[in-house]
Amino acid sequence: MTDNASKSPAANGQGQAMWGGRFSAKPAELMQAINVSIGFDKRLWAQDLAGSRAHARMLISQGVIASSDGEEILEGLARIEDELATGSFPFRDEYEDIHMNIEARLRELIGPTAGRLHTARSRNDQVAVDFRLWVRDAADRSAAQLAELQKALLAQAETYADALMPGFTHLQPAQPVTFGHHLMAYVEMFGRDASRFRDARARMNECPLGAAALAGSPFPIDRHQTAASLGFDRPTANSLDSVSSRDFALEALSAASITATHLSRLAEEIVLWTTPMFGFIKLTDAFTTGSSIMPQKKNPDAAELIRAKVGRILGSLTTLTVVMKGLPLAYSKDMQEDKVPTFEAFDALELSLLAMAGMIADLTPNTEKMAQAAGAGFSTATDLADWLVRELNMPFRDAHHVTGSAVKAAETKGVDLAELSLAEFQAIDPRITDGVYAVLTPAASAASRMSYGGTAPAQVRAQIARWKETLA
Ligand code: ARG
Repeated sequence: MTDNASKSPAANGQGQAMWGGRFSAKPAELMQAINVSIGFDKRLWAQDLAGSRAHARMLISQGVIASSDGEEILEGLARIEDELATGSFPFRDEYEDIHMNIEARLRELIGPTAGRLHTARSRNDQVAVDFRLWVRDAADRSAAQLAELQKALLAQAETYADALMPGFTHLQPAQPVTFGHHLMAYVEMFGRDASRFRDARARMNECPLGAAALAGSPFPIDRHQTAASLGFDRPTANSLDSVSSRDFALEALSAASITATHLSRLAEEIVLWTTPMFGFIKLTDAFTTGSSIMPQKKNPDAAELIRAKVGRILGSLTTLTVVMKGLPLAYSKDMQEDKVPTFEAFDALELSLLAMAGMIADLTPNTEKMAQAAGAGFSTATDLADWLVRELNMPFRDAHHVTGSAVKAAETKGVDLAELSLAEFQAIDPRITDGVYAVLTPAASAASRMSYGGTAPAQVRAQIARWKETLA
């Protein structure tokens, strides 16, 4: 401001704009503050170096830059990698992002030749390739961690393939199942989750490098070479799409959200099962915490936190979807907001998957308590109805009705179905014989469910064997 009359008294002599009284930073500083991304995109350094190396080698082999210049650049990049790996790299906010930080450092190390690296490239395709590489790694890691979690579940399922527990619908006792069968349900879910990450990977595995700013490059670049050297299946086919699409991240975040949803269900069951009211499982001190006031407490905090993480992960999917919605082609700076939610989501997912695998290996079921609960709530009523259908050739609806009367009689008497006398059964239907008692135990109920995918221990073992082979 040169016009003194337009300054507020408070701003006089402090070089502040007339509206600056309530701002502590100058406009340029605010611009830098909102623009700078090095604080979070430094996580892309390894990917950025890989992309730059592939690009430099291609420029050399295509004769776009002299090999002597290219070699200098590659040597400079190697020194930068050392600095980054050992933590001595000087990150600087004034260079805004990881791309310009590395390029500026390269110039300090090798001089003006550094400027040749950016031939036929833009930060737009550079960030697109870096981020794709990062998300690809994250998807691979998630799939691998899911496999580890599945192995932990398999090991417990195998040990407890025969252990009876109540199966629930509406969280009410429904029919007896085995603990192994219940755990194997999650093995199936996590198997689909892993395959979603693999599917997402297959679709994202195209290389945007060489799209340059948005329209492609006039230099004789070889996009197939850079794609292959970075492990991509092929280059992306449209330069505008290459720099403006983030659906690969959205898809990975969708897979992450579904995985987190599954994790939260298992976490919730662990929370329930460890309550004294259920008492189905115990966790060791390794996966529980105490209370600062109630000495008797052993809380399943890890399970609770895993149950909660889905909020953050699904939140990230929502964030990135809203960032991308309505963006005109091609690149807009909005897209810089893709990284923080994606990093956060995968950090949370990774921790959740590792902690869940640890907790599954850590838990010990109380098989006696579970078996006892498996017989409660007239859980073999369906077995009685099925017996009436099989042995007396009753239509299932009639059998359902007869069984209802038997449950009522047992309830009135305060006993289990198996404790009704034959006379009491025959008072309900005179054709009932003492053969009925064989189907009224939880063990018989579970063992009888031999249909493919059923809870019979033999079926559960068959599924365990199949998964062991798949995961080997
Ligand atoms: N830091 C930027 C991002 O994350 C890199 C791309 C910048 N491109 C640009 N034209 N300003 O998106």
